[in-house]
Amino acid sequence: MPQTLSVLPPEQGVRLITLQRPEALNALNTQLLGELAAELDAAEACADTRAVVITGSRRAFAAGADIKEMAERDLVGILEDPRLAHWQRITRFSKPLIAAVNGFALGGGCELAMHADILIAGEDAQFGQPEINLAIMPGAGGTQRLLRAVGKSLAMQMVLTGEPIGARRALEAGLVSEITQPELTVERAVAIARKIAEKAPLAVRLAKEALLKAEDTDLASGLRFERHAFTLLAGTEDRNEGIRAFQEKRRPIYKGR
Ligand code: HXC
Repeated sequence: MPQTLSVLPPEQGVRLITLQRPEALNALNTQLLGELAAELDAAEACADTRAVVITGSRRAFAAGADIKEMAERDLVGILEDPRLAHWQRITRFSKPLIAAVNGFALGGGCELAMHADILIAGEDAQFGQPEINLAIMPGAGGTQRLLRAVGKSLAMQMVLTGEPIGARRALEAGLVSEITQPELTVERAVAIARKIAEKAPLAVRLAKEALLKAEDTDLASGLRFERHAFTLLAGTEDRNEGIRAFQEKRRPIYKGR
C-alpha cells in the first residue's frame, strides 16, 4: 500500500492518483516518486485503466523535489540518485495522463505536471521553476518541457528569475489547456479523462505517441511516424468497429484490438 499517495481504482476507465505528503506540500521525496512510478506501472498493466488523473491538494500540487532529502546528497549521491529511474518510469507511461493542478506546482512539482499530457489548473495555481534560488537548476525536464510549452522568453524568465506564474498566465502561454474554480479542477480533469477513456485504446496510444514525437523530432520524421501509426490503426478491429458504428448510428464498442 502506498503511503504518500492515495489511489482510487479505475472507474469508467479512469484511475485517480492523489499525492499525499501534506506536511511537506507534497514535496517529491524518493518514496513518493517510487510509489508514483509503481502506481503508473500498475495502471499501464491494467486493461481497465484507460487514463490517469494525477492531483495534489488544494494548497499544493507539489512544491518541488524534497529539499531536506536533497541537502543530504553530494555529487556522487546525485549521480546515483534512485529518483532518476523513477522519473524515467513516469516519462514512459503510455496511457493519457492528466494533471489537475491547484496551489503550488514548483520545481519538480511543475516538472511532474509537465509530464502530464493535459494540464488543468485551478485559478489559484502557481507554476514555477525556483531552483535558481537554491543555486541549482531544473533537473527533471524543466528546461526542455517548459521551453517547448511556453516558448523561449517566458521559460528563460521563469527559470532564470525563479518567479512563478499564475494560472491565467499559464493558460495564455499554453502551459495548461483550461482553468477552473479550484474546487472543480479534479472533477473537470476526470471528465476529460473519461471522455478519452471511451475512445479506442490503440488509437489513443498511438495518437499520444505521435503528438509527443512532435516535441523531439523534425517535421519530416514526425510526419513519417504519423503515417506509419495511421496505417497501423487500419489493421485494428476497433477501427472497423468505429466506422461501422458511425454508419449504423450507434455507439461503438471498443475492445482494444
Ligand atoms: C521539502 C518542503 C518543500 C520542499 C515546502 N516544504 N516545500 N519540504 N521540500 N520542496 C515544507 C516546508 O519546509 C514546511 O515544513 C512546509 O512544507 C510548509 O511550507 P512553508 O514554507 O511553511 O509554506 P509557505 O510559507 O506557504 O510557502 C510555500 C512555498 C515554500 C512558497 C511553496 O514552501 C517554498 O518556497 N518551498 C520550496 C519551493 C522550491 O524551492 N521548490 C524547488 C525545489 S528544487 P516545516 O516542517 O518547516 O513546517 C527542485 C529540483 C527538482 O524541485 C529536480 C528534479 C530532478
